[in-house]
Parts: sequence; C-alpha cells; structure tokens
Amino acid sequence: MGIRYISLILAGLHVLTCTTWASVEVSMEDRVEVSLNSQAKISCLYSLYEKAMRITWSKKLPGKEQSKKIFQIEGVYERIDDKSYMGRLNVTHSYDVNESRGSIILTIDRVTLNDEAEFICTVYDLSKDYSEGHTLLQVFNPPSFPVIVGTHSGISVTEEKPSKVADCKVDNGYPKPNITWYKNNFPLHSAAGDVEISEKETKNPSGLFTVESELLLKVVREDEDVKFYCEVNYFLPGEKRMTESDPINITVHYPTTHVTMSINPPEKLFKEGDTVEIRCKGNGNPQPIFTFMHNNKGLLESSDNDFLILDDVKRSDSGTYVCQAFDIQTPDIEDIEDSINITVHYFDEIVVTPKERVLDQGDDLTLTCNALSSLPTYKAWYKDEIQLGEEQVLHIHNASLDTAGMYTCEVTVVDLPELSKRKSLQINVREKPEITEITVGPKDMDDNSVNLTCYAQGFPIPTISWDLYDLRTDQPLNETSVENQNTGEGIFSVISVIATSDFTANCSASNDLGTTTVSRDVTARPSSTTILPSTTATETSVPESTVPESSVPKKPHQQGGSGVIIAVIIICLLLLAILGSFLYFLYKKGRLPCGRSGTQDFTKENASKDDVKSGKSEEAVLLQGVNGDKKSPTE
Ligand SMILES: *[C@@H]1O[C@H](CO)[C@@H](O)[C@H](O)[C@H]1NC(C)=O
Ligand SMILES: *[C@@H]1O[C@H](CO)[C@@H](O)[C@H](O)[C@H]1NC(C)=O
Ligand SMILES: *[C@@H]1O[C@H](CO)[C@@H](O)[C@H](O)[C@H]1NC(C)=O
Ligand SMILES: *[C@@H]1O[C@H](CO)[C@@H](O)[C@H](O)[C@H]1NC(C)=O
Repeated sequence: MGIRYISLILAGLHVLTCTTWASVEVSMEDRVEVSLNSQAKISCLYSLYEKAMRITWSKKLPGKEQSKKIFQIEGVYERIDDKSYMGRLNVTHSYDVNESRGSIILTIDRVTLNDEAEFICTVYDLSKDYSEGHTLLQVFNPPSFPVIVGTHSGISVTEEKPSKVADCKVDNGYPKPNITWYKNNFPLHSAAGDVEISEKETKNPSGLFTVESELLLKVVREDEDVKFYCEVNYFLPGEKRMTESDPINITVHYPTTHVTMSINPPEKLFKEGDTVEIRCKGNGNPQPIFTFMHNNKGLLESSDNDFLILDDVKRSDSGTYVCQAFDIQTPDIEDIEDSINITVHYFDEIVVTPKERVLDQGDDLTLTCNALSSLPTYKAWYKDEIQLGEEQVLHIHNASLDTAGMYTCEVTVVDLPELSKRKSLQINVREKPEITEITVGPKDMDDNSVNLTCYAQGFPIPTISWDLYDLRTDQPLNETSVENQNTGEGIFSVISVIATSDFTANCSASNDLGTTTVSRDVTARPSSTTILPSTTATETSVPESTVPESSVPKKPHQQGGSGVIIAVIIICLLLLAILGSFLYFLYKKGRLPCGRSGTQDFTKENASKDDVKSGKSEEAVLLQGVNGDKKSPTE
C-alpha cells in the first residue's frame, strides 16, 4: 500500500514554482479522492537544504478567490486556525538531511462535504522565502439503490403527446449521479416528439444529491412487451460505478379493431341440456364493451362482459350469435362485430307404431320405430335382448306363439353415442290356454294339507278354476286356499287341499279362445311327492286339441326312487336264483331231501316276479306294502 501510494504520488507530481529565486521547491498531488466519513491524507513534499522553518495549510473552497488558513506549524509550535478541524486534523512533518527533502502529511478524519476544497501547503525557509503547492480534495458518496415507479394506469397509444411512463429516483449521491433510461437494453435519449426525459436534482441539507428522472414516451402497441429500467452512474474514489433498477412493464391501451368469438368446449356437437360458453375477444386493450345477440333479436345478459353462458340449451337456442364491441377509446368508430353459428342437436322420445300389440296366430305385423333427431341415428330391434334387425321397421310374419314377447327398439345418434334411447313393448299372440304344468307338493303331516300348482299359458291370460272330488266318496272337495299369480305370459294357481283320502284334481284354464282341463289323481298317503301315475286330460269346447305332452307331470324324484327299487328287486331275484340253483344242485345230488317248504318259497318268489312282469307298477306294489288298508285302483 505504501509503495503504491508513493508511486502514485510521484506519478502525479507537479511542481509549482511561485518565486523564481526561492530555494524551496514544493510538490503535491493534483487531487486526492476519498469517501465521505473516511480519512483523507494529503502530502506535501519539499526540497530544501534545511528543515522548513514554517509551514501553513490553507483551504480554498471551489469558486472562491480567497483562501483561508486552517493550520500552521513553526518549529515546535502548532496552531489550528479553523475550528471545524478541531479534533480531526493531524499534521506530521519530517526532514531527511541526506536527501535535503522534507515531507508534511495532513490527515483529516471523518471527511465531510465541506472538506471538498483545494488544500494549499506553503513552505517557508529561514529567509522567509516560500513556495506553495495545492491538492484538490474530492469527496464521494454512493447513492441509494434506484427506485423505479411505473405508471399504473394504462397508457393509450392514441395520446398525441408523450405520456409519463415511469419515475426513477436515487438518494444521497455525491457528486450528483446520472440517470439513464433503458427500453429493452437500449438507452433512451430525449428525442423530438417521442421521448422526453426530465431530471430534477435536489441538494439535501447535508449537501448530498437526490436525483429524480421522469420518462415520457409516445407509446406504441409493442411497448406492452417492453421492459423499462433506469441506470444510475456515479463515481467513487478511483472508479466509476453503475446500478440498474428493477425492470417494469407498462400497460398499453390500444383500440379494438377486430373481435373474435369462440365456443367452449370447441369442436363439440351440442345437444339439448348441454352448457355452452360463448366468449368474445377483441384485439385491443382493454377489452371493449360487448353485447351479445341471438338471431338478431334481444340482447342477452352476459355472465361477464366478454362471456356468455347458455345453460341447459334447447333446440331453440340454435342459430346465429353475434357479439358487438363498443370501444370507448374510439367512440366514433362503428361497432365491430363477429358472429358464430350454434346448432343444438335434439333427440326426441321414441315412438313405435302401430299401437295394436295383440295378434292372432298367422297375423302379420309391421312395427315402426321412430325418434326425431337432428342427427343421423342408428336403429336396432331386439327381442328378449337378442338383436333382430337394424332397420327402423320390423316385420313380423305369420305370428306364432313364439312371436309373443318383449320387443325393444333402440335408437342411437351415430355421432353422439351417449344419446341412446330404448323403448320396449309387449307383443301378445292370442292363444287357447295351455296347461304346461300341474304339480303336487309334499304333504304336510300335521294338517294333511297338500299344495297343488297349475300353470297355464295363453292370451288373453286365462283364468284358472279347480274341481276337486274325493275318489272314495265321489264328493266334491274344497280347497282351503287359492293363490293366483299372473306372470305376464301365463298364470300360476296354487291351491291348498286337506287330503285325507285319494282325490282327483281338475285344473281348468279358460280364455276367449277356449278352455283346457288337466286332471290329476292324488293319493293321500303320507309319503311326500307322490302323484298317482294314471292321468287323464280332457278338452272341452275345442275338440281338436290334444293334451300337450308337457302337461304330463314330471316326476324325477319318483323315477329315481323306482330305479333304486327295481335294482334292489333284481339283485334279490338274482340272489334267489343263485340260491335256487344251489338248492337244486343239492337236491339233484340228493343231499337235501325234497321238502314242501322249499318249493313253496320258490313259487312265491316266482309269483311276485310275475306280478311285476304283468305290468303292475312298482309303486302300486310298494303302496300295497305300505298302505295295507288301501286298495290299488286297478284291483
Ligand atoms: C454525468 O453526465 C455528465 C454529463 O453528461 C458527465 O459529465 C458526467 O461524467 C456523468 N457522470 C457520471 C457518473 O457518469
Ligand atoms: C304359418 O305357420 C304355421 C306354423 O307355424 C305353418 O304351418 C304355416 O304354413 C305358416 N303359414 C305361412 C303362410 O307361412
Ligand atoms: C302351501 O303353500 C302355502 C302358501 O303358498 C305355504 O304357506 C305352505 O307352507 C305350503 N304347504 C306345503 C305343505 O308346502
Ligand atoms: C275332471 O276331469 C275328468 C277328465 O277330463 C272328467 O271326467 C271329470 O268329469 C272332471 N270332473 C269334474 C268334477 O269336472
């Protein structure tokens, strides 16, 4: 530091000679730069054959002619003449005899702005000849960070004169800092008509500068994307510095010349019930005032200025929507508008014709399925969920009993598959009653009740009546309860009967087309699930009909039981045959005497065997065994 300081001093040496004949020569630096409140050192070098007798320091303020003595030293005697330096001024004086050179250093602590002056060092020799030198002391203080404030309200491009864009301010700089404006990194300078920069500087009581700069511009539309900032340039001891403010954007107002309408969601087919959003956008800023119209009539209430929401649209909401813009920036320009067409698609209820849904066997019927829609539809017919055709029309030829059933027409909008509707209808075919089932439930051992079920189909749905009569007494029997259940395709009738002896049950089903009767003989024996096998069915009023095969009761349990019984009997017979052969063998061998009992047994078994073969049912045999007191009907 010392070496550098001295070399700096030597580089800046400047010799001033005030008196040509003086023996003393003084040299000082041109200038010394220091920061405010720091310490300043000003050196004064002289060459003289002896140590200087007297030295004075004076100060000349800038622009002043007169200098003012602040300090003097004479031998050991020192005096401060300027009270403002009391306590912060120090002077050292040394003399090198070998070099014949002296050095005086003035030190000022806590430098103030008042210290910025020309300091004059005057050196006197013994003969009171003197010589002097001077150094300019410059004081510096860095300014605050620049504060930029942009204009908040929008700036219109239609203004004829430049409008204020921003203010930039720095405080407490010394010397006065400079402010430069930048637009996207390019410096701005005042230019006729377009850019105006006005600067205002204030000197604070402390002597520091506050600088404010105002930027005015004739803004153009592109300025809305521009970054503005100010740059502050200032000096510090030995250097020049620069600070940039934060960048700002400005709001530019420009008139709308064009509006665009858009629909949300875009590219969508609208259907009734949808919500449609219509938006209007102008190319200006701020957005103009919009009005919406539908089919050239009636102003619509927009949800927001630029926004129209149509909830739960109907087909009547289809049509042309117009959006008109009124821009207060250009009140004299005619309304700018855009329009858009919206189609709200519809899909009405399915109508199936004809209404008549009851057919006679052999009839033909053409069903037509229709659903009014603004979009192409796809139609399909189903019967019991099986697809029949893809036409609007379904032809039924030569209706048979199988024709009856549930028919469904499904209509789907091809482009909006979520729009799909179904309509079902029941087709009935007139049919004489048909008893498809007559079953006998298990007997309740507590109260001897038996449940009988008869199921009859036909159209119109038949009514069922029961005739019961006791087989032993030939007296009519009364059911204790009747329950009928219409299944849509037929009817179930369940009755409960107290059965103390065998009885016959006649189930008759009748409708417009006739009556069908099925008769059952029911045994009253306690064992469950048994029905006497001999059944007879009679038709009345429609002679050509025959008893349908399906009306013969199904007896899987009983058949299974018979199988087991037959197997057991066969095994018994086989065993008996083997025993017989064995006995015969013994008899032939003479080991067994021919006895009466053996023959009897054998013939008895044969007789039983004959009974079976003679067509008597196994059940009947078993029945005889179980119910000894009852007689089989064949006996
Ligand atoms: C400020 O501007 C003036 C005039 O252009 C110039 O002389 C001075 O050096 C500038 N100051 C700084 C710190 O750049
Ligand atoms: C109608 O159907 C019945 C039985 O299903 C058949 O006997 C008759 O020939 C059919 N008639 C015609 C015209 O197809
Ligand atoms: C007969 O049917 C009635 C009602 O349907 C039922 O409560 C009863 O338990 C049935 N009786 C027998 C023996 O199944
Ligand atoms: C029950 O039907 C049988 C056979 O069809 C018939 O002979 C009998 O007379 C009928 N009984 C009654 C009470 O209707």
